[in-house]
Amino acid sequence: MKGGRVSCIGRFFCCTLMIAVFLIVSIVLALALWIRPPSIIIGSAGLTSAGTSGIQFQTSGIVVPLEVNISVNNPDYFSVDLKQVTLDLTYPLDGNNTAIGNGSTSDITFHSHSNTTFTFPFEINYQFSTDPNYAILLDMASKCGILGGSQSDITIDYSIKVDLKVILIPVSPTISNSFSISCPFDESELEDFIKSLGLSSIAGLL
Ligand SMILES: *[C@@H]1O[C@H](CO)[C@@H](O)[C@H](O)[C@H]1NC(C)=O
Ligand SMILES: *[C@@H]1O[C@H](CO)[C@@H](O)[C@H](O)[C@H]1NC(C)=O
Ligand SMILES: *[C@@H]1O[C@H](CO)[C@@H](O)[C@H](O)[C@H]1NC(C)=O
Ligand SMILES: *[C@@H]1O[C@H](CO)[C@@H](O)[C@H](O)[C@H]1NC(C)=O
Repeated sequence: MKGGRVSCIGRFFCCTLMIAVFLIVSIVLALALWIRPPSIIIGSAGLTSAGTSGIQFQTSGIVVPLEVNISVNNPDYFSVDLKQVTLDLTYPLDGNNTAIGNGSTSDITFHSHSNTTFTFPFEINYQFSTDPNYAILLDMASKCGILGGSQSDITIDYSIKVDLKVILIPVSPTISNSFSISCPFDESELEDFIKSLGLSSIAGLL
């Protein structure tokens, strides 16, 4: 017993601590290997089954109801509860990002070892009050090919917040990215709407 009783007690605690650390690291590694990430397939966004007739041209703006089908394959031994998903859309134009709609859904359970497909509804809700110069409307019109030139996809930025519960543990990742949709409007309807706002001369539609 070199060093006497004090260093003996010290060695004992040190040893116990090392064993505890080793056990915790092993448990965390085992859990990490055991939990397999779900595979998620996000379809392309498009109009709801109502088609272009679901689009509302209003005096204050335009509402376009959209949806996207999402398929989640949960390979784990436990189910995952999706408490809530909220989506916020912004329209990127000349360095400005203007809020242009949202969507949310809640309470979906991804059962263990199964594929769950659900439809996520959201909408473009474009209000003229957020865009007094109609810059976004004219940009969409140009991408729809009604100001001359060819059609191109409309790109919209999104931020999606997912509230999950995995074995009682809440997980809330936020993902930001962008998606593209082809012109959702009936071109002649959009053109008539732009004319009705008195924008023909700005847009060059005479
Ligand atoms: C989503 O799935 C439903 C049912 O399969 C289908 O009718 C609908 O067209 C799909 N929506 C989109 C945007 O692909
Ligand atoms: C972008 O924002 C600035 C400052 O708010 C504004 O002056 C400018 O007109 C905006 N540009 C567009 C295209 O809306
Ligand atoms: C979506 O936006 C509308 C209008 O701006 C607002 O009334 C609504 O509360 C928003 N919904 C969500 C889920 O944020
Ligand atoms: C779930 O979907 C994926 C991709 O579509 C497919 O490969 C897999 O076989 C499906 N699993 C089940 C249990 O249906």
